[in-house]
Amino acid sequence: MKVVKNVLEMQKIALKLKLSCKTIGLIPTMGALHEGHLSLLTRSTLENDVSIVSIFVNPAQFGPGEDYLKYPRPFKKDQNFCKKNNADYLFAPSVKDMYAESYLTYIKVEKLSEFYCGKFRPGHFRGVTTVVAKLFNISQPNNTYFGEKDFQQLAIIKKMVNDLNFPVNIISCPTIRETDGLAKSSRNVYLNHNERKDANKIHLILKKTANKIQTKQITFAAKAVKFMKISLLKIPKMSVQYAEICDPFTLCSMKKNIKLPARILFAGLLGKTRLIDNIEIRK
Ligand code: PAF
Repeated sequence: MKVVKNVLEMQKIALKLKLSCKTIGLIPTMGALHEGHLSLLTRSTLENDVSIVSIFVNPAQFGPGEDYLKYPRPFKKDQNFCKKNNADYLFAPSVKDMYAESYLTYIKVEKLSEFYCGKFRPGHFRGVTTVVAKLFNISQPNNTYFGEKDFQQLAIIKKMVNDLNFPVNIISCPTIRETDGLAKSSRNVYLNHNERKDANKIHLILKKTANKIQTKQITFAAKAVKFMKISLLKIPKMSVQYAEICDPFTLCSMKKNIKLPARILFAGLLGKTRLIDNIEIRK
């Protein structure tokens, strides 16, 4: 596995691979790799000639007062993880190389990036789409892999790719969970012992709500949201940012009768740690 830290070098390598008709799979990450990332990398190695993992803690997607500085950066461990799991390239550029002092260009997907997480993290998705577009131009992927855990991010990236005609397939992969149900996330390390013990309740509540909807015990969106919020607020130190039932394609929140398929989206703070999760409700 080759570690590439320079943007132009990575782009040269990718263009050369393309010229020799190799297919490229890109797994964009911010590092602190876990089994969620592993599922993306494994799928990429099965579906492409070459797999590139990018690790870049992207300052453009963190707001003031967020965890940019304390975000975990276990680079050596991540490097071994990528090597062991058959990545061909680890692309880890510096902030200076990605965003020169004179940097001025940003991509924003309107509307979709303004609600849910966008409301609580203004500018976050603008940072995500900008860096993802840059990573596409640098790595020239045929296929790129994202987890469903960041469901709104996934919808926004799909929209950007479609609207801007990026020649890349977005492959979404299911959320990987701890054995007790907590969605794997690089931010789970922030949870203290008690918070971690309680954190799995989020998934259990989302699952219970989905079940009530699927079995028609609840048919009205407002009632489902009320049930979820009351249950979530029983978790100690939990503050709910949003818990919504939405259309899985447009992400529009359902207000009256729930139409299936639907998706439950959740974000909240457990103590000081921001957690997100979501669950599918099938027909
Ligand atoms: O999901 C993430 O880790 C990040 O938002 C991404 C897509 C790598 C962009 O920085």
